Amino acid sequence: SAVRKPWIGGNWKCNGTRASVEALITSLNAATLPAPEAADIVISPPYLFLETVQARIRPEVHVAAQDCNAKGMGAYTGSISAEMLHEFGINTVILGHSERRDIFHETSEEVALKCKKALSLGLDIVPCIGEHREERLSGRTNEICFAQLAALAAQITDWSHVVVAYEPVWAIGTGLVATPAQAQETHAALRGWFREHVSAEVANTIRIVYGGSVSGANSAELARCPDVDGFLVGGASLKPEFAAICQNMA
Ligand code: G3P
Repeated sequence: SAVRKPWIGGNWKCNGTRASVEALITSLNAATLPAPEAADIVISPPYLFLETVQARIRPEVHVAAQDCNAKGMGAYTGSISAEMLHEFGINTVILGHSERRDIFHETSEEVALKCKKALSLGLDIVPCIGEHREERLSGRTNEICFAQLAALAAQITDWSHVVVAYEPVWAIGTGLVATPAQAQETHAALRGWFREHVSAEVANTIRIVYGGSVSGANSAELARCPDVDGFLVGGASLKPEFAAICQNMA
């Protein structure tokens, strides 16, 4: 869309060795990518690699963490706080990915508190929402996504630092990408939710990106959907293909 700058994220999930991260940085630094005015490009390595990637990646590519806690610093063994991300110059954080929700049992309320905390530190956030296969099959996609948005809206007042990632769980890592019609329909419904429950201004300006088996091959068609403002890419973000996806979106 003309009013919304495309946003493309690469979620590396829990993948990477020193050698593979080095190779990926080298490949991205040599790739043709959209100019920073044309698109926001963000890559999200595991915590241990954040500093290396931040130091070595071309400056126009932003670096994001994959999670943070809602608590802050303190007696939270195994946890990373938004304050720490902020201190290390990591200005973006993905929150509430379906893998956090399903494997680590994060509730929508906890995800929303993490969002609030990260925003309070001045971070940009990428909350993830999306329905499971059975929920789509039983016609509950909008209901599920709207409930996830409502939980966020209970904690978020300023949406200007938020990119929403719509990731239907059945499409994640399955090769079963949403069709452009499915993606467009849900993205339009999500934008409609913002219009009804937040404001027309936020509905028009908030970026809603699609995630779930995005590839170099399917990204061009998805990019043409008027309400798809970008992608959150998993598997393909670990490959040189990520640059092609960014080019297709810009
Ligand atoms: O956050 C991105 C993601 O969940 C999609 O993963 O591997 O299906 O692109 P993938």
